[in-house]
Amino acid sequence: MTNAQKWLAAFLGLFIVLFLLGRITNNKNEASVNENKYAEKTMQSNEQKDGLQLIQENGCTACHGQNLEGSNIAPALVNIKKYWDRDNLINYLRNPSSFSNDRLKQYRLKYKNIIMPSFNNLDIKDLGKIADYLMTR
Ligand code: HEC
Repeated sequence: MTNAQKWLAAFLGLFIVLFLLGRITNNKNEASVNENKYAEKTMQSNEQKDGLQLIQENGCTACHGQNLEGSNIAPALVNIKKYWDRDNLINYLRNPSSFSNDRLKQYRLKYKNIIMPSFNNLDIKDLGKIADYLMTR
């Protein structure tokens, strides 16, 4: 090999290494872009969900009935706007046991083996949508 050939070989080698490195980091970027897209999608779909959908997805209907008409383990969720304003209703959903009045006490006697779960794990926006929906019924 002449000196010139050695240099050429060295440059070629370097070029290949750089090329491969570029590919690897590029792939990583693509992966994180995909992750972002996925996050955006799931966030969007949550944004688009309405109160009724959230109620169905979070299992409210399992106790309160398919159409929230009530069942033998939980009261009907109709006409409750008589008793609640939006803020109180959201707070109730986050921590039902912190609320008490004659009506709730009667429910607790009637459905004494069932506890209304607290939904403070839900996003506050979602709780708002649920409350808004319940106030329309
Ligand atoms: C495990 C059964 C169960 C599930 C699941 C459940 N609830 Fe309840 N819910 C009850 C019971 C029992 C009561 C009676 C009152 C109490 O215990 O505080 C109640 C009471 C309520 C009340 C008060 C009703 C009134 O007349 O003021 C609201 C509002 C309510 N639930 C909404 C919901 C929503 C919204 C969900 C879903 C995010 C849900 N519940 C899920 C059992 C359940």
